[in-house]
Formats: sequence, C-alpha cells, structure tokens
Amino acid sequence: MSRIPADARFATRAVHAGLDPDPAYGSVIPAIHQTSTYAQAAPGRFVEDYDYARSANPTRAALERAVGELEGGRAVTFSSGLAAEHALITVACAGGAHVVLPADLYGGTYRLVDKVLSRWGLEYDLVDQTDLGALERAVRDETALIWVETPTNPLLNVVDVEGVVARKRGALVAVDNTFATPVNQRPLELGADFAVHSMTKYLGGHSDTVAGAVVARDDRWYDELRFVQNAVGAVPGPLDCFLVHRGLRTLHLRMAAHAENARAVSEFLRGAPGVEDVRWPGFSGMVSFRHPDATALVSRTRVFTLAESLGGVESLIEVPQAMTHGSVEGSAAAVPPDLVRLSCGVEAAEDLVADLAQALRD
Ligand SMILES: Cc1ncc(COP(=O)(O)O)c(C=O)c1O
Repeated sequence: MSRIPADARFATRAVHAGLDPDPAYGSVIPAIHQTSTYAQAAPGRFVEDYDYARSANPTRAALERAVGELEGGRAVTFSSGLAAEHALITVACAGGAHVVLPADLYGGTYRLVDKVLSRWGLEYDLVDQTDLGALERAVRDETALIWVETPTNPLLNVVDVEGVVARKRGALVAVDNTFATPVNQRPLELGADFAVHSMTKYLGGHSDTVAGAVVARDDRWYDELRFVQNAVGAVPGPLDCFLVHRGLRTLHLRMAAHAENARAVSEFLRGAPGVEDVRWPGFSGMVSFRHPDATALVSRTRVFTLAESLGGVESLIEVPQAMTHGSVEGSAAAVPPDLVRLSCGVEAAEDLVADLAQALRD
C-alpha cells in the first residue's frame, strides 16, 4: 500500500506512484523481475497471481499501479501503444460493431481499424471531432466505441472530451492521451471510459522503449482488459516496464520543460519567412507548421533529429505524410505533404530556435 497521502499533489504522486520498497531487502527501487515463471510450493500454490510471467509480473504490476494512479483508474500495460489499442477495441467491440474515429489521427490507429479489424466486420466513420454536431450525427445505435485523440496527431486539434461524452449515447469513449499526458489532461475525470497511451512517448520520455497502456475507469472493463492482456499475450517485458516507470517519476518536470520550449519555438516560427499555419495547443511539446520546402528543411536541422516518434527529452522533426502517416494516404484522414511536425525536447530553447532558424535560412 502506498505511503503517500491520497490527497498528495500530482508532482508528489508522479515521483512515488507504484513504488514501495522491496520487501526482501528494502531497496528503494524494487527489483526488475526478469523471469518467465515462479516456483510453486505445491501445484496451484503461488504468490498472489504470479504463476507465469505473461499472466503477471511484479515489475509490470508496479508500473500498472503507477499509471493507474496518475490517470485516476486501473491500468493494464502492453508491448506497444498499438497493442494497447488492439486490446481495448477487442474488449469494447464485437464483430459488426461501429466505431467513430477522429478525421485527424495517428496513422497506425487508422491502419489497425481499416486494414486489420475491418476484416472482422468492424465498421467505422472518420469524423472531425472538433465539430460536436458532426460527432453527434455519426453516433448510431450500434456504435460501440468513440475513439478520441486530443490533441490530434499531427494537426494538434483539441477536442472537448466532456462534449463527446455528453453525446456518446450507448457507446464507450476512449481518449488517446499520448500527446497531453495526465499532467495536462485526465480523460477519466472528464467522463471518458478509457485513457490510452503510447508509453513509448512522454510517459517513458527517453526514446528507449516501446510500450502502451489502457486505463479503465470501471472494474468490469479492467478485468476484461486483463483477460485479453493474458489471452492475446502482447505484454511488455520487465526491463521496458522499469524504464517507463523510471520515466514517469520526472513526467511533471519534463512536461513543463517541453511546453516552455514549444512556446518559444512556436513564437519564433510565427514570424519566420515561408512558415504558415503554426500550431501549438498551449501545452505539451508538440508543434506543427507548413512550409513549401518541408522535405529539404527537415534534413537541415542538427539539434532536431529527423526521426519518427515523439515525447523524448531530445527534439525530433518529421514530415508526417512521408513518415508516420503513410497509412492514411488516400483516406479522409490524409495529411498535407508540406506539414512539418516537431517534438520539442528539453534542450535550451535558444538552441532549438537557432537550429530552426539556420534550417529555414539555408
Ligand atoms: C497518438 C499516438 N497513439 C498511439 C501510437 C502508437 O504507439 P506505439 O508506437 O507505442 O505502438 C502513437 C505512435 O506514434 C501515437 O502517436
């Protein structure tokens, strides 16, 4: 049981969440349980639910307690954000169900629904969720799930989660909280049924692991997610769980630094020649803009690394159409070819601005 008072502030909870000293030796950081199985005293006699490491692992359980605590629900973790999405859609929908997706979303989410799950009879509509009237019209009797991404990837639109929840009818609402993180937005407190994370991004925070999570508000859905986690088996390894858990402890500090750098970078870009449609939601480290020479520009930065992904302490730059969002090409969710997406890291803001200035000049 956590020693931290239940009313402790977010920063205090981020540092301590899920961490109790190891009962055997008192180590402040519990051991990484790199094991596939557990010794049993007699057939079927084992500690708690630790019979086999796909079913349960103490390092994973500690991370799940921490993520659940920070999002205000119960977390189940997976080997990637997409594995988490797959598990959630599996428990929320049956064949023939209808899903409402955002018209601007991570390409992999679209690919999962359009190329994999639609083969099992799942139907979907893409809707601009900043238009709550359009969302309301898209929700049908057989709509099982409304998938929300806010801010959206890559256009950084912000969706009113409470407004979506008010229009959900019989559907469940899942919010991909990867870009906002629980520092800025806690979907379960806004009435959503699930918060989803690619923990590969800000929660891990150091670009050194791939992992995902679903946080459920309701115990029934938590139990179903745990069942699918074991039945399908896309579990994260103990070292990955340890790395994400270590990252969580500085989440509040990193998110503040990411936001400060994103503010400085977006202010600079708004006055830069050739740059248009600069977007920063006012929190988090993601910035996007349009530039006619996008492909050449992203190859000229030195501090910003040209790479997919986001949310690490180092700054990254990419062209979504050519890199992360190829799977939405030709669909209603296609992204413009001149769009540049930045993940502002925690380096000195002046160096990030100078790097972009030289790349825009050359
Ligand atoms: C918003 C969002 N959700 C989900 C994912 C998928 O996560 P993962 O790459 O960990 O599978 C990503 C990956 O970029 C993402 O940006």
